[in-house]
Amino acid sequence: MQDIIGQLEAKREAARQGGGPERIERQHGQGKLTARERIELFLDAGSFEEWDMFVEHRCVDFGMDRQKIPGDGVVTGYGTVCGRLVFVFSQDFTLFGGSLSMAHARKICKIMDHAIKVGAPVVGLNDSGGARIQEGVDALAGYADVFQRNVLASGVIPQISLIMGPCAGGAVYSPAMTDFIFMVKNTSYMFVTGPEVVKTVTHEQVTAEELGGALTHTSRSGVADLAFENDVEALLMLRRFINFLPASNREKPPVWPCNDPAEREEHSLDTLVPDDPNKPYDMKELIEKIVDEGDFFELQPDYAANIVIGLARMQGSTVGIVANQPLVLAGCLDMDSSRKAGRFVRFCDAFNIPIITLVDVPGFLPGTSQEYGGIIKHGAKLLYAYAEATVPKVTVITRKAYGGAYDVMSSKHLRGDVNFAWPTAEIAVMGSKGAVEIIFRRESNDEEKLRQRTDEYSRRFANPFVAGSRGFIDDVIMPHKTRTRICRSLAMLREKKLENPWRKHGNIPL
Ligand code: HXC
Repeated sequence: MQDIIGQLEAKREAARQGGGPERIERQHGQGKLTARERIELFLDAGSFEEWDMFVEHRCVDFGMDRQKIPGDGVVTGYGTVCGRLVFVFSQDFTLFGGSLSMAHARKICKIMDHAIKVGAPVVGLNDSGGARIQEGVDALAGYADVFQRNVLASGVIPQISLIMGPCAGGAVYSPAMTDFIFMVKNTSYMFVTGPEVVKTVTHEQVTAEELGGALTHTSRSGVADLAFENDVEALLMLRRFINFLPASNREKPPVWPCNDPAEREEHSLDTLVPDDPNKPYDMKELIEKIVDEGDFFELQPDYAANIVIGLARMQGSTVGIVANQPLVLAGCLDMDSSRKAGRFVRFCDAFNIPIITLVDVPGFLPGTSQEYGGIIKHGAKLLYAYAEATVPKVTVITRKAYGGAYDVMSSKHLRGDVNFAWPTAEIAVMGSKGAVEIIFRRESNDEEKLRQRTDEYSRRFANPFVAGSRGFIDDVIMPHKTRTRICRSLAMLREKKLENPWRKHGNIPL
């Protein structure tokens, strides 16, 4: 017995040591925490239950039979964040470069299988040189096993990837299939092929950071949702983020204590929309003034900023916010913003998170680059996402709701549950000037007449009353009452039940 306990302790110690003091020092020297330090910071103190600490790889090629370290480069298990269950894997770069072997993959798959069974999120802390090169096809098989589980878990439990080191080659496709990707600035990168291959194939000279660093993916590609300064900030923000999410699709989002009254009025909102319809204003001001305690967790703030997405709470309960941003491209919908918001709407719908949509949209962005890039298909993604969503949907039109974009942005016609308009709302096929230039083209030489026609069109359509008379909006509300009216609507919709017809799956325009 004493002997076994001695061996056990020795194995545990070997696993804790990972790749040894030198490699740990190197990891720290790069500003990175170790796999275990990361888990410790992420989970509630003392809550981590580690599994498979003694797992070793079975590779015998290239002298690997003499290099076996318990744990095999990944720490896995479960614990809690603010008392709520979360499964986690954390790749250990100090051990075989965090590379993925068959045994390493099995450890990840085991916690994913349990997470699906019990209904709890999986968080992956990625820091890996990719497939364990010595293992060949076994490592590739291991990746595919993880990919398969990513897909089966999609829409069942939240999956979040935090990229904290290299993530290259086919390995990127596991995070890509998770719901959210966060990155750490300067120490993490993701790409399908690295700078050397890029140079050989396309003759482009690019650094790893330029090709796949955190700034590239949060501002250019839109692959990642947020970038953080360092490991500590990333892990603490991840804790904050998890607090917004339900543990699985079987649950409603968590309700946290709230000291912000539903009846709070924000009179400054009455002057938020400028008199001049062509002047922009900051939609984030509206979001921050209506949600609980101004706490808005924005996602993808630096990508397709003409639409704003993120999570917040109303009366302590999580809501998803989707809002056109008049400050950028006048709030037009384009390819990137449609994809960005479409995926977010689907996430909210999968996890029972009500969606609040704030609308000020002059239409879809015109131009050859949009048409050649497939705005038709991309715009359809957002339309499809809203139309299939069965969660509570509350919409507020603050100003423009023109054309097809009016329909898309959670309109009554796409089963919007409660649709409000501010008195400044303009719900029409297009802006008055554009409309008159088309329907009165024959009078285009007579400027005075055109001006009269424009005024007439504005009087007729640049208001919320025509849509109101049809029942397409439920009420015209004063801006300062927006929070109250949304809170009441959400309370009314709490037990909403709506199901789409049975099907194997729909065919969203990908
Ligand atoms: C085995 C690996 C490894 C790997 C790194 N190591 N990557 N061992 N398989 N894939 C080991 C190194 O041998 C080294 O071991 C230790 O990890 C640290 O690596 P360094 O190179 O010293 O670190 P650094 O200089 O920081 O460079 C990190 C790196 C580089 C850029 C990630 O290691 C690298 O290029 N690795 C190979 C990347 C790669 O080509 N992976 C396969 C991709 S294809 P010692 O003992 O010296 O500490 C792929 C397919 C997936 O992943 C397909 C899924 C469908």
